[in-house]
Amino acid sequence: MTAPTGSVLLAGAVARLRAAGIPDPQRDARRLLAHALEIAPGRLTLVLPELVSPAAEARFAAALDRRAAREPVSHIVGLRGFWGRDFRVSRDVLDPRPETETLIEAALSAPFSNVLDLGTGSGCILLTLLLDRPGTAGTGTDISAPALAVARENADRLGCDGARFVLSDWDAAVEGRFDLVVSNPPYIAEAEMPGLAPDLAFESRGALTDGGDGLSAYRAIARAAPARLTPGGRLLVEIGPTQARAVSAIFAGAGLETVAIRPDLDDRDRVVEARVAAPGT
Ligand SMILES: C[S@@+](CC[C@H](N)C(=O)[O-])C[C@H]1O[C@@H](n2cnc3c(N)ncnc32)[C@H](O)[C@@H]1O
Repeated sequence: MTAPTGSVLLAGAVARLRAAGIPDPQRDARRLLAHALEIAPGRLTLVLPELVSPAAEARFAAALDRRAAREPVSHIVGLRGFWGRDFRVSRDVLDPRPETETLIEAALSAPFSNVLDLGTGSGCILLTLLLDRPGTAGTGTDISAPALAVARENADRLGCDGARFVLSDWDAAVEGRFDLVVSNPPYIAEAEMPGLAPDLAFESRGALTDGGDGLSAYRAIARAAPARLTPGGRLLVEIGPTQARAVSAIFAGAGLETVAIRPDLDDRDRVVEARVAAPGT
């Protein structure tokens, strides 16, 4: 029997993923076929007319089985793009999300030299900031040792020397002050978890929810931040779109003044920027 071409396999895969209810079957099938063929995604169109080897066809079939069962594409290929770089991901970390790039943009909008990233996960925030600002250094904490292993692997892969990673309940095991403290903590309320997309079942639960009202991490970060920020230092946290007012109130109660609430590309509130309030404010 003649081997099928990439185009034929792709057409069948798109139909299969569509039937499985995958939201963007064309995009996912193309990414998985490139992975199975072991080529850069940008080269796929060029090789689609060529015959596919039985080994690559088998890899593609296995990848499609996983995606049809709602496993994220990033877990199947082991990588997720963020701010122009590929990060290693696994079930132990949150997949870096496009909306987190709003926090990166905010952080890069002013100078900094020393960053603390609370709940670093894959390390995508800390490593992006350090790599985009050569000469800076930083610390990433996480309560999950497997997540820190992924972050360290990303630091090695991306050649980032200035990052250190510490197993810590927020800042508990950290010393010193930083001119930039950032965090994208778990902010989904426990009550919202059952309504989430099925793909999220493959991500670390502790990365998604605090198991409570979705605000407990902000309470902990607010308690920690004043002792971790240098005078004039900035605190930037990612939030869920409905949380800006509650997070600002939590910050105010801890002596932090909200200086900006920044929207993401869909115009939803996404980042709260704060600093230690001046005495008397
Ligand atoms: C929403 S994920 C964000 C990961 C990564 N910073 C990103 O933006 O993709 C939250 C991270 O906080 C970590 N985390 C949860 N509770 C924590 C705690 N008490 N102390 C430190 N890290 C915690 C989780 O393990 C997870 O890696």
